[in-house]
Amino acid sequence: MKVLIIGDIYSNIGRVMVKTWIAKIKKKYESEFKIDLVIANGENTTHGKSLNERHYHELKDAGIDVITTGNHIFAHPDVVKYIDKSPDLLRPLNYNPYHPGNGTIVVEVGTKKVRVTNIIGRTFMDKADNPYYAVEQLIKTTEKNSNEISDIHIIDFHAEATAEKLAFAWNFDGQLTCVVGTHTHVQTADNRLLPKGTAFISDVGMTGPFYSIIGANPKEVIYRDKKTMPAYLKPADGEGQFSAVLLTINNETNRAEKLERIFIHPQAPDLKINE
Ligand SMILES: [Fe+2]
Ligand SMILES: [Fe+2]
Repeated sequence: MKVLIIGDIYSNIGRVMVKTWIAKIKKKYESEFKIDLVIANGENTTHGKSLNERHYHELKDAGIDVITTGNHIFAHPDVVKYIDKSPDLLRPLNYNPYHPGNGTIVVEVGTKKVRVTNIIGRTFMDKADNPYYAVEQLIKTTEKNSNEISDIHIIDFHAEATAEKLAFAWNFDGQLTCVVGTHTHVQTADNRLLPKGTAFISDVGMTGPFYSIIGANPKEVIYRDKKTMPAYLKPADGEGQFSAVLLTINNETNRAEKLERIFIHPQAPDLKINE
């Protein structure tokens, strides 16, 4: 099984990149393999923050099966209106339990049940419940209910600190199929299998404007940082980048075989899958 996991989709440029590259990847590799499942982090889809209902449908139409999010999910007022009727749009599981929406979903991919869970970190981030406890409880409850048991479990850990993401992945090594980090918008080159088989990368990166500061127009970010004055950040214009990882899962064992990086941008425009 092949799972394509796309990093934070940022603004209209990110939406265009997603539509273009999901189709191109499927086409280029159609004789070698099929992409069975597409997961993407959509927390920056609408003008750099959150995901309105129109853009949610745009991402679904582009071929995304499950949308994970993070700290910006509730920034758009639309989200509270439609998230409860859209179970494939996740908000962090370890958020305040009074928040609408769900943090986990099981999707059927052929004969397999794949669980996708979204959690959020606590280092240099806003308040959230303990992510370890949240996932331990989830595993315990699902193990008790045969309808809830999945063959494969993939987690998007939306967090700032690489060590926080890596420590979490090590803690659940062997229990989870794959842990990918999101939120920093910068792809890391530490994709690997941990000793007991969980696939891991600290950050998948961002899909959006390439000539930008993690998606935003540089001018306002520099003004804010240099002068410590408030600034209204705008999504940058221009050419786009596409950041993703491709997870290969063994169909016999349901374990991760490899996690490879994809990073396409104007200075590296060819589609390459990097081990
Ligand atoms: Fe983000
Ligand atoms: Fe974020």
